[in-house]
Amino acid sequence: MNRILDPSLLGDDFIWGVSSSAYQTEGAHLTDGKGLSIWDVFTETQQRKIKDRSSAVIACDFYNRYEEDIRLLKQTGIPHFRFSLSWPRILPQGTGDINTKGIDYYNRVIDYCLAQGITPWVTLYHWDLPYALEQQGGWTNRAIVEWFAHYVQVCWKAFGDRVKHWMVLNEPMVFVGAGYFLGVHAPGRMGMKNFLPAIHHAVLCMAEGGRILRRLDPEATIGTTFSCSYIEPYRSSERDVRAAQKVDTLLNRIFLEPILGLGYPTADLKPLQDIKSYMKPGDESRMAFPFDFIGIQNYTREIVRHSWWTPYLQAKLVSPAHRKVPYTQMNWEVFPDALYEMIKQFSSYKGIPDIYITENGAAFEDPDHPELILDYHRKEYLQQHIAQLFRAKAEGFPVKGYFVWTWTDNFEWAEGYIPKFGLVKTDRKTQKRVLKESGRWYGEFIQGEITEITEP
Ligand code: BGC
Repeated sequence: MNRILDPSLLGDDFIWGVSSSAYQTEGAHLTDGKGLSIWDVFTETQQRKIKDRSSAVIACDFYNRYEEDIRLLKQTGIPHFRFSLSWPRILPQGTGDINTKGIDYYNRVIDYCLAQGITPWVTLYHWDLPYALEQQGGWTNRAIVEWFAHYVQVCWKAFGDRVKHWMVLNEPMVFVGAGYFLGVHAPGRMGMKNFLPAIHHAVLCMAEGGRILRRLDPEATIGTTFSCSYIEPYRSSERDVRAAQKVDTLLNRIFLEPILGLGYPTADLKPLQDIKSYMKPGDESRMAFPFDFIGIQNYTREIVRHSWWTPYLQAKLVSPAHRKVPYTQMNWEVFPDALYEMIKQFSSYKGIPDIYITENGAAFEDPDHPELILDYHRKEYLQQHIAQLFRAKAEGFPVKGYFVWTWTDNFEWAEGYIPKFGLVKTDRKTQKRVLKESGRWYGEFIQGEITEITEP
């Protein structure tokens, strides 16, 4: 079936952008007084956990090249830019002295965006915790609620006169799950004794961050972002259905429901019950905050089957290779309906505010050409996913915007530089940028060009 994508059908107030993060792009990891982050230390001391043994000491050198990257955004016709602030660049020890050079740097980035007519959407925390705080327990220490509150205030004071779109946390489930349970992301901690307190403190910080920003700037648009995957059982057997339910609870509900005032979904995930031991009187209400928007970050769906051998969950994922379906460099199935399903699932909660897709995109190996990057797979991925926005919007779901992950090819955490997610190719040796075909198409599309696509 052919489908017409006409951007004007999404409404005049629908916004389009790209997303990135500080650690994955900035480099300059010790420049101008920046403190170490947990990722600086992790990539140094646990190098074997990074697929290509790389680090982000230089990354895309965005610290020095932000003007070029923002100019290219402008030339491509992309009006909204989501990026994050590095906590240790602003507060090298996490608390205490402010690094004025770090503040100056973000002032330059924000001012340059505004001068180019690009709206900055700022994430306060995208995983690069100051190492000094990790030495005091990091996310497992309840004191992080105070550390974080201080950091939020410093950021608002420095940038709040110009930044009007804020996101408090980026994907808490990923940084807590991968960093404090599986140990595959910084700081590399494992087990329930780290996981449960880190979940609870991240929830408290998310709500507290929202409250602080709202108090300081009642006019600002304040959100927070969640990773999510559409979950389906492998077979319709009771066991697989139950396994899928548990994975859905783990991946899609743990952080969203307490924010909405529903508490933790412990009834559907028993091992979560021990989180009570980290809660203090009054926490139930402290965990909730009415955000202006929720950022959905979706890339794929997961198919789940029962497994006796997986501790806590008794569930495992069935890989796309096993199912013989298309997948990306991340081993994530290409399944555009997932985006629609997640919008629908999130919208089914009472009181869900506006929804922005704050990340969606695909890692594919790009054709090797110095000037002409004809990345048709990525372009098609974007078109198929954007088609799902039209579907969701037509059904009345409150989707207000879409950001592609990501602008320049960058440091993909434990996967190093292998997966390429960018709309712009970044040559790691020369730092030369080349706009890919997907980026060219995206820019033209959002400027009003109508596109016809063939749906799978
Ligand atoms: C994160 C990004 C990451 C992307 C692709 C999200 O989980 O917010 O930092 O690069 O997905 O894996």
